Amino acid sequence: SNRYEFIEASTDGKLGHISLNRPHVLNAINQQMVLEILAAMEEFEVDDTIRVIVLTGKGRAFAAGADIDEMANDGAIDFELRNQFKDWDRLAMIKKPIIGAVQGFALGGGFELALCCDLLFAADNAEFGFPEVNLGVMPGAGGTVRLTKLVGKTKAMEWLFTGKRITAMEALQYGMINRLVAKELLFEETIKFAEEIANQAPLSIRFIKESVLKAVDVSIDEGMQFERKNFSLLFSTEDQKEGMIAFQEKRKPNFKGM
Ligand code: CAA
Repeated sequence: SNRYEFIEASTDGKLGHISLNRPHVLNAINQQMVLEILAAMEEFEVDDTIRVIVLTGKGRAFAAGADIDEMANDGAIDFELRNQFKDWDRLAMIKKPIIGAVQGFALGGGFELALCCDLLFAADNAEFGFPEVNLGVMPGAGGTVRLTKLVGKTKAMEWLFTGKRITAMEALQYGMINRLVAKELLFEETIKFAEEIANQAPLSIRFIKESVLKAVDVSIDEGMQFERKNFSLLFSTEDQKEGMIAFQEKRKPNFKGM
């Protein structure tokens, strides 16, 4: 049974599924939806059976942004006092890999949510963009930061200034998505890939994610120190022994995540 109002969450083997579920407003993200996404993610985070989180949107969009109706009458102090984006910071702390499957619009907060995913699959009808400029505002949940880190200043500035939509093909060209797939195959292809990752050594995946996210943020030297610690740490795991012994015995490893 689904405990949530604005999302659907379920598990299937090693995958934890979260689906944004306000299709009549193209999955516009209200505050309650963000809380629910985080609640589901944090539940998957501590569920030993779950290895990968898959994020999708129901209906014809991934998400068309933050809920404009909810914030239209807000003032600056409302945002400040609510500290509204603190939940997005929790999202950045999820350690299990998150794969997003985007079909249709991923705009504004929807694009920001997609940019929080570790891997992105997109359907050929996917359209990304930051239309906030057209509303007299700007992204507030990491958009100017994550897009710039991802594609560099040149295109980030252009896309943020114009609010123009980015096609799935462009997104692929600029390295914003991992795969571009036919709409009918999006879910299936995403699941297939998620399952592949779910069968890798979980602690390797965990520390790789942590190291890559660190690398995006810090100097090469600092990143290297961090990587080295995580690398060493993996030699204290059973899966490292299992992985290397399996190689020597010419068999498939059986990873346990310990
Ligand atoms: N908030 C609230 N409602 C939204 C919404 C949003 N972000 N996006 C779409 N909807 C609603 C529409 O109002 C409409 O509702 P009604 O049927 O009750 O009129 C319904 O979803 C369907 O949308 P459209 O009829 O507009 O569908 P379309 O196919 O003609 O257009 C669209 C699709 C181009 C995405 C258009 O809906 C649109 O421009 N949406 C707003 C996009 C946007 O500006 N997003 C940024 C929000 S600000 C933000 O995200 C800030 C941040 O960084 C946190």
